[in-house]
Amino acid sequence: MFKILEAKFLAPGIKRFVLEAPRIARKQKPGQFVILRIYEEGERIPVTIENSDPERGTLNIVVQSIGKTTHLLNSLNAGDSILDVVGPLGKPSEIEKFGTVVVVGGGVGTAMAYPTAAALKRAGNRVISIVGARNKELVILEREMREVSDELLITTDDGSYVEKGFVTDKLRQLMQNGTKIDLVLAVGPIVMMKAVSEMTRKDGIRTMVSLNPIMIDGTGMCGGCRVLIDGKSEFACVDGPEFDAHKVNFEVLVQRNSMYRDAEQKSLTDFKECQHAAQPAEACVPGGR
Ligand SMILES: Cc1cc2nc3c(=O)[nH]c(=O)nc-3n(C[C@H](O)[C@H](O)[C@H](O)COP(=O)(O)OP(=O)(O)OC[C@H]3O[C@@H](n4cnc5c(N)ncnc54)[C@H](O)[C@@H]3O)c2cc1C
Ligand code: FES
Repeated sequence: MFKILEAKFLAPGIKRFVLEAPRIARKQKPGQFVILRIYEEGERIPVTIENSDPERGTLNIVVQSIGKTTHLLNSLNAGDSILDVVGPLGKPSEIEKFGTVVVVGGGVGTAMAYPTAAALKRAGNRVISIVGARNKELVILEREMREVSDELLITTDDGSYVEKGFVTDKLRQLMQNGTKIDLVLAVGPIVMMKAVSEMTRKDGIRTMVSLNPIMIDGTGMCGGCRVLIDGKSEFACVDGPEFDAHKVNFEVLVQRNSMYRDAEQKSLTDFKECQHAAQPAEACVPGGR
C-alpha cells in the first residue's frame, strides 16, 4: 500500500497527490512515469511523476479526471492509500544543453512537461515555456513553470486569462519573429502535439512529444502501448514515452486510443450513477477500494 500524504485540487478535476514511495522517489528521472492500481480488480493507469523528494521519500503526481479510474483516484484524500504504484517506468527525457528549448504544455500536459522543463533549465538551456488551457481555471502550475523558464507565455482558448488563442499561435509567433529554437518539447492532447509537429517539421526544428497510448503492464510484454514510429512498431512504455514527433504516426495513435471508447463511457456512466445515488466512491467499485 502506498499512502497519500497530501491531496489538493489545482483546478476543477485536476488534483495533485503527494505519495509515500521512497524507492521510486530515489530512482526517478524527469520524463518517467508510474503505473497505479487503486484496488485489486481495478485497471492500471499510467501517470507521469511531476516531482519527487528523495530525502522525504515522496513523489508527486497530477491527475485529471477523465474516466472511471481517474475519477475514483481524484476522490481519494490525504490518509487514504493506493494499492500498487509501480515504477519508475519509461525512458527518462534526454537532458543536455541544446541551446534554446521551447516547452509546450497543453492542459494536464503542463504537469507532465514540468520536470523535464526544470531539468533542461538546470542543464543550462534557455527555456521558453508555452502553457495553454481551455480557460483561466484550468491553467495549472503557473508559478512552478515560471520558476524554471526564462520566459513563460500563456494562452487560453476562451481568452479568460492572458491571451486568447492556442499554444501553437505562440509557437508560430516565436518562429516568425526569428527566435532560434534548438528543440521543442510538446506534451498534451494528441491534436496539439500533432499540430506542433506539423509546424516545426517545415523548419526542421527537432521536436519531441510524450505519447499517451493505452498502457497495461508497462513492461513491454502486453503490446497495449504499441505506437508506429517511422513505420516501425515500438512500445511507448519501454521505448518512450518521448519520441521524435516528426516520426510519429498520430493517426494510428488516435485510432488505437479510441478502441475502447464505448466500454470506457459505460464504465464512467455506471460509476457516476452509483455516486449520484449517494454512494461513497468505494461502494461503486467491486470489493471496495
Ligand atoms: C505515459 C503516460 C503518462 C500519463 N501521465 C498522466 C498524468 O500525469 N496525468 C494524467 O491525468 N493523465 C496521464 N496520462 C493519461 C492517463 O493514464 C489516462 O487519462 C487514464 O488512464 C484514464 O483512465 P480512466 O479509467 O480514468 O479513463 P477511461 O475511461 O478508461 O479512458 C479515457 C481515455 O484515457 C485513456 N486511457 C484509458 N486507459 C488508459 C491506460 N491504461 N493507459 C493510458 N491511457 C489510458 C484513453 O485515451 C481513453 O480513451 C498518462 C498516460 C500515459 C500513457
Ligand atoms: S504497456 Fe504493455 S507493452 Fe507497453
